[in-house]
Amino acid sequence: MPIKPLRKAVFPVGGLGTRFLPATKAMPKEMLPVVDRPLIQYAVDEALEAGIEQMIFVTGRGKSAIEDHFDIAYELEATMRGRGKSLEVLDATRLAPGAVAYVRQQEPMGLGHAVWCARDIVGDEPFAVLLADDFMVGKPGCLKQMVDAYMQVGGNMICAQEVPEDQTHMYGVITPGRRDGALTQVKGLVEKPAKGTAPSNLSVIGRYILQPEVMRVLETQGKGAGGEIQLTDAMARMIGDQPFHGLTFDGQRYDCGDKAGYVTANLAIAIGRADIGDSVRAFAVDLLK
Ligand code: G1P
Repeated sequence: MPIKPLRKAVFPVGGLGTRFLPATKAMPKEMLPVVDRPLIQYAVDEALEAGIEQMIFVTGRGKSAIEDHFDIAYELEATMRGRGKSLEVLDATRLAPGAVAYVRQQEPMGLGHAVWCARDIVGDEPFAVLLADDFMVGKPGCLKQMVDAYMQVGGNMICAQEVPEDQTHMYGVITPGRRDGALTQVKGLVEKPAKGTAPSNLSVIGRYILQPEVMRVLETQGKGAGGEIQLTDAMARMIGDQPFHGLTFDGQRYDCGDKAGYVTANLAIAIGRADIGDSVRAFAVDLLK
């Protein structure tokens, strides 16, 4: 079967973001900035770099700031223009007309359920899933690295990373098979295994390339870990039917679903920036003395 190219990406952004309260009381967690760009902007940029043409956001109540972010801000732009300011800084927020779709997940029933809510927009083609709080920094970006590998092997692919043994209970965990360069065959998957029961420490990170059949599997997927409909459980049921690989990403992951990870990401990105890097670095060095 020929390998179908990837054109669509699903961004589940319905989560409540309770770990970042009170910051996320009235603002979606995906809008938290790393320096001056919201997390969701980095994820969309990563998708564009990987050749994605349509962004599908699975939203929920209180997430309208995301829709506004990827829209024209008439008043702001008119005012900036009037003051002779360049609008270039807003370029990244402009998606081509029709290149963005929103579907609402009425209840937070889990990642699998969120993805399934996008089934009609995804249709009968492969698609990516990006979790914006896994902030991935690499050249090329994480999804592009995955797409390059996917065009060779097809099937389903997840981003895989080894995590400390005492953290596997927070992840989807892989039973690894044969390893070939950055690709590891996925022989089994378990969502958030109880401590001491994980099949390995190779874990699922929030980037996926999935075949449309997963939508049919999700339809009958019962509740799993945490009483939620888990994407990992549906993917596990597809192993054996189609090629399934984990790609070890060449780059750095920051877990921005976690406060320490989020602060670390801000520091790392700030230090690497041409405009503020020197002063932030000097301050950090001084602070640690
Ligand atoms: C989700 C997935 C999990 C994956 C993780 C990566 O969990 O369910 O399989 O390992 O993202 O960040 P969450 O972090 O939303 O609980």
